[in-house]
Amino acid sequence: MTSESLGNRIDPKVVWHEGSVSIENRSRLLGQSGCVVWFTGLSGSGKSTVANILDRMLLELGRPSFLLDGDNIRHGLCATPSILLPTYGAAFSERFGLGFSPEDREENIRRVGEVTCLMASAGLICLTAFVSPYRKDRDRVRRIVEQKNNLRFFEVFVDTPLDVCESRDPKGLYRQAREGKIPYFTGITDPYEAPCNPELVLLADDALRPENHAQRVLELLKSSNIVSEGSQETSFGSRSQP
Ligand code: ADX
Repeated sequence: MTSESLGNRIDPKVVWHEGSVSIENRSRLLGQSGCVVWFTGLSGSGKSTVANILDRMLLELGRPSFLLDGDNIRHGLCATPSILLPTYGAAFSERFGLGFSPEDREENIRRVGEVTCLMASAGLICLTAFVSPYRKDRDRVRRIVEQKNNLRFFEVFVDTPLDVCESRDPKGLYRQAREGKIPYFTGITDPYEAPCNPELVLLADDALRPENHAQRVLELLKSSNIVSEGSQETSFGSRSQP
């Protein structure tokens, strides 16, 4: 790694403490290489749906995974100012809460990127579903995962056109954005920068069902030797199980 590509991560006041258990040790324990599968696309594109199906498929194959979902993470680690306000007060919420300005999204993706590194280093197949509209923010996470931790990063572009997302409008946010009630709304008043070289593109009209999209990502993980071809269904194979 170079300090230029990953930023200057040196502060004499905090000194890195090398762990006694390596990424390789953890990998061997779990029988898989941890990695990051980064879903990106417009709000309503289907990222969360596909990522959730994939998460379930991996469970059924006995492969440890975890999904970080934008809407959920914005209730905790990257909570919005409104969520923090009742507990922490105005000054704190404004300082640490994250909205949707370019700078706030940058910090959202930075925090989440660091968490994906930790999870992948722990041996998990870490799935994420964030709009993550800025190329530079996504590329920075890729660099940290690939160069600092030597782990695989799979960018999956859920390429659902704006008009389809807007017609779905599952949370009514596009309507409000059109009415000028939500600032910085991706696709309406804010840009979305499509990935230049994603590992996979899922098109809205590509076999249509989200199960098929999840299957395509699973095939990618198999062909990349993250999930072995011979992985068998486990007792979680029955969907009635909790
Ligand atoms: S990101 O751009 O910072 O990656 P993130 O994925 O965490 O966004 O959150 C996106 C979710 O927040 C959307 O699915 C949508 O439900 C909601 N949301 C609220 N305001 C906005 C906005 N201005 N732009 C995009 N999504 C928004």
